[in-house]
Amino acid sequence: MNKFSKKGFHSICVKDPLIDGLSSHIPPIYATSTFAYDNLEAAFDFFKSGGKTEGVYTYSRLGNPTTRFVAEKIAALEAYNIDINVFGMLFSSGMAAISAAVLATVKAGDKVLTQGNLYGTTNELLVSFLKDYGIETVYADLKDLNYVEDVIINDEKIKLIYIETPANPTLACCDLDGLAAIAQNLGVKTIVDNTFASPYVQQPLKFGIDFVVHSSTKFLNGHGTATTGIVIAKNEDEIYKRVYSIQKILGAVCSPFDAFLLNNGVKTLPLRMEQHQKNAMALAQFLTQQDAVEKVNYLGLETHEDHLLAKEQMHGFTGMLSFELKGGMEAGMRFMRGIKFCTLTATLGTADTLVTHSASTSHVNVPKEQRLQYGITDGLIRCSVGLENIEDILEDFDAALKGI
Ligand SMILES: Cc1ncc(COP(=O)(O)O)c(C=O)c1O
Repeated sequence: MNKFSKKGFHSICVKDPLIDGLSSHIPPIYATSTFAYDNLEAAFDFFKSGGKTEGVYTYSRLGNPTTRFVAEKIAALEAYNIDINVFGMLFSSGMAAISAAVLATVKAGDKVLTQGNLYGTTNELLVSFLKDYGIETVYADLKDLNYVEDVIINDEKIKLIYIETPANPTLACCDLDGLAAIAQNLGVKTIVDNTFASPYVQQPLKFGIDFVVHSSTKFLNGHGTATTGIVIAKNEDEIYKRVYSIQKILGAVCSPFDAFLLNNGVKTLPLRMEQHQKNAMALAQFLTQQDAVEKVNYLGLETHEDHLLAKEQMHGFTGMLSFELKGGMEAGMRFMRGIKFCTLTATLGTADTLVTHSASTSHVNVPKEQRLQYGITDGLIRCSVGLENIEDILEDFDAALKGI
């Protein structure tokens, strides 16, 4: 049983377990590669259990008390108010977690069904990297549930639906209830990347999704202090047999120090998400009134095509938004040059507001037709809206828009 379950969401975030014999109020960072065995039987039990035995550690690649309690805490948040047992495993990055979850569900000869607007490196993993290992990826519009069902019925090699919702850059959402139902009926596994929402805003396990993955580098950490990832599942064997053995072999473990930083961030997750969302809504409303802006993509606006779906399956609309400038590439570059207070960077989920113009930075080497297919237009600006005073964010955006 997950020791964090059965408490309120905020309480799970802030309360740490006592994990040493000294009653440290804040659990220590176990900066050790190795643990001495109490006796031979304890070591025997540990190795036999595949690392599952709580309280017995041998070697930090195979398990560490600091990383373990943080993984359990985040898993409990993903299962909050859902009557399931849940398990989590921390990784050295979001990509390590995503790779492990995918490798835990498919093998050579299988196919993955996914959407075209995935995070770029996840797309590279599925489409290019895994191809060389005999795993093929098929794209579909995951919003079209009838089509998804037909594709799976007609191709028995499809063993996994990989979902990212909300997704870059337009915050498009997939229907988690519908996709999980199809997958369960047809015996296909599902993975959801919940990075953009965080468990405070969306809990995919509630809908019957099998695995949740995060780049916990983002909202979960919340301060940009460490690169980490997590895989969460309700099936103990899937975590402690499949995911654990992949972590053991590939070795992409989260360092205890990074787990400690992640836990510090998680303590304020609900407060931060509320403020991210409040500021994002205010910025979105401001942007809709600007002549230079063609379109604003924020799930909280009724004009977003997935507003109703987001209202149904999320508890808020996240701190992410994007908008299109009428003036295209030139306007996008001039806008970015005009930003003085907010931070120009491509990451997301930190305490300060982050602004990026994909066409001139992260996607500058992607052929135009290809990026346009996924909504990365010449004038598209993406923002991860932070926790500053909203007046300061608006003043910065106002000045940058006036300078276009
Ligand atoms: C949605 C999403 N998933 C996964 C990742 C990869 O995470 P990491 O950089 O922690 O490996 C990112 C990184 O930006 C992301 O935005």
